Amino acid sequence: MRARAFPKAGLSRAMRTVKTAARAVVFGLMLICAGCQRAALGVRAPVGGGEYAARAADCVACHSIPGGKAFAGGLKMGTPIGAIYSTNITPDPVTGIGRYSLADFDAALRQGIAKDGHRLYPAMPYPSYAKLSDADVAALYGFFMKEVPPVREPNRKTEIPPVLRIRWPLALWNFLFAPRSSYAAKPGHDAAWNRGAYLVQGPGHCGACHTPRGLGQQEKALDESSPKYLAGAELDGWYAPSLRGEIRTGLGRWSDKDIVDFLKHGHNRVGVPFGSMIDVVNNSTSYFSDSDIQAVATYLKSLSATAEQPPAAYDSATTTALLSRPSAQPGGAVYGGYCASCHGFDGKGFAPYMPALVGNPVVQDADPSSLINLTLNASIPLVVAGAPDAYRMPQFRQQLTDQDIADVLTFIRKGWGNLAPAVTAGEVAELRTKTDPASDQVIVLRMR
Ligand code: HEC
Ligand code: HEC
Ligand code: HEC
Repeated sequence: MRARAFPKAGLSRAMRTVKTAARAVVFGLMLICAGCQRAALGVRAPVGGGEYAARAADCVACHSIPGGKAFAGGLKMGTPIGAIYSTNITPDPVTGIGRYSLADFDAALRQGIAKDGHRLYPAMPYPSYAKLSDADVAALYGFFMKEVPPVREPNRKTEIPPVLRIRWPLALWNFLFAPRSSYAAKPGHDAAWNRGAYLVQGPGHCGACHTPRGLGQQEKALDESSPKYLAGAELDGWYAPSLRGEIRTGLGRWSDKDIVDFLKHGHNRVGVPFGSMIDVVNNSTSYFSDSDIQAVATYLKSLSATAEQPPAAYDSATTTALLSRPSAQPGGAVYGGYCASCHGFDGKGFAPYMPALVGNPVVQDADPSSLINLTLNASIPLVVAGAPDAYRMPQFRQQLTDQDIADVLTFIRKGWGNLAPAVTAGEVAELRTKTDPASDQVIVLRMR
C-alpha cells in the first residue's frame, strides 16, 4: 500500500509499460477532474495484520494526495469554518508521527487527541474509529511504525481564521457525540453479522458519508439501533444513498451477491461506483477478504427499510417513445442524443460495465446531487485488481446546458417505471458553480 507501484512479479516488460502508461492516464485524469483531490493509490495483494486494517479503515484516502507519497498528508478538506489539511502520518520523527507511542496513537485514533494534546477536527473519523478493537489499533500502530517508509513532509497550516482556531470546543463536541468504547458483539446475532457490523461502523466508517448529519455536523446515528443510521446523506456534492432496505432508493432489491460484487469487484448487475464512493472501493473494500465482504453484505441486508415504496415495474412505453424520434419530451431528445448509446434506449445499460438506469437506486434518490455531479464532471476512474476500468462516463459540462441536464435527469428519473422528483436547472447551476475548477468557491471534502 505504501507505493503506487503495480506488483512487478510475473509481469513482462511490455505489460509493465502498458500498465505504467495506463497509470499515467489515470493520474492525468485525476488531476484535471474537478472535486477529485483524493488519490487512487497503490495496488497490492491484501495481507493480514496492520496493512489489512489500514485498508479496511481507508487511512490512505485522506492522508495522501494524488501524486504525493502515501500517508504524507496534505489533502485539503473543507469544514464550515475554513479548510484544513490532513497530516503526515508516516513514521518520520520530525514531520510525521515517528515519536508517537502506542498510547498516543490510540488517543488520536479513538479519541481524537493528538500527541501534543490538541483536539483533532472530526474530519478525522475518530467517532467511527472509537469502535476499533484494541487488536486492530495495535496492528495499525505496528504497520505505521515499521512498514510505512518515513517521509519528511511538513504539515500544512489550517485555513481556519485564527479567532475560530480554538480547539477546546471540540472536547465538548467529542463528549456529546463520540462513542467511548470499542465495538461490543451484539448477542442474538451470529459471528458474520457482528463482524460486518464492526467493519461498517468502525474501520469502514461508512456512516461518515451515508448517515445524515445533525446541527453539530455529527452523524445522527452510529449504529442500527436508529432508523437514521446509513439512511442516506449529501456530502461534498455527492449524495451517498441509503444502505437500508428501501425497495427503490435503498438496497431492498440488492442480493448479498450484488453488494459483494459492487464493493469487491466494482460492478454488479445494476450499478458501478462513482463519485466519492470510488475512493472507498479503490483503496478499501476491493481489498476486503471474501468472508469480510460477505459479512458486510450480511450486516447491510439486516437494516430495515425506513419508507414504504411502491414496487418497481418495468414500463416499456419510455423505450417505445424514444425509438419513435423525435422525442416529444426535451429530456428524451437529450437522452437519445447523448446517453442512449451507452445506457440503451431501454434504460437497461450493458451490465456489468454500462450501468442500468432503470431500477437503479442512485437514480431514484430524492436528492439528485450525485446524478448532477456525475453528468457535469464524470468521476475519477475505478481501479480494481490493478486495472483501471476501461469504460467511463464522459463529462458533459461543456456540451450540455443546465436546462439540458435538468431535463435529461428528470427524464431518466421518471422513465421506464422509475419514480423520483424532477431536477431543476437551478440545482444544476448551483453544482456547476461549486464544482467549477476555475472557481475559488469550489467545494472540497468536508467532515467526512
Ligand atoms: C476521512 C478522512 C480521514 C481518514 C479516513 C483518516 N484520517 Fe487521520 N486525520 C484526518 C485529518 C483531516 C486529520 C487532521 C485533523 C486536524 O488537524 O484536526 C487527521 C489526523 C490524524 C492524526 C493526528 C496526526 C498528527 O499530526 O498529530 C493521526 C495519528 C491520524 N490522523 C491517523 C489516521 C489513521 C491511522 C487512519 C486510518 C486508520 C486515519 N487517520 C484515517 C483525516 C482522516
Ligand atoms: C466518502 C464517502 C463515502 C464513504 C466513506 C462510503 N460511501 Fe458508499 N457511496 C458514497 C456515494 C457518494 C455513493 C453514490 C455513488 C455510487 O453509487 O457509487 C455511494 C454508494 C454506495 C453503494 C451503492 C448504493 C446504490 O444504491 O447504488 C453501496 C452499496 C455503498 N456505497 C456501500 C458503502 C459501504 C459498505 C461503505 C463503508 C465500507 C461506504 N459505502 C462508504 C459515498 C461513500
Ligand atoms: C460513453 C458511455 C456513456 C455515455 C455516453 C453516458 N454514460 Fe452514464 N455512465 C457510463 C458509465 C461507464 C457509468 C458508470 C460510472 C462511471 O463511469 O463513472 C455511467 C454512470 C451513469 C449513472 C450512474 C449509474 C450508476 O449506478 O453507476 C447515471 C445516472 C448516468 N450514467 C447517466 C447518464 C446520462 C444522463 C447520460 C447522457 C447525458 C450518460 N449517462 C451518458 C457510461 C456512459
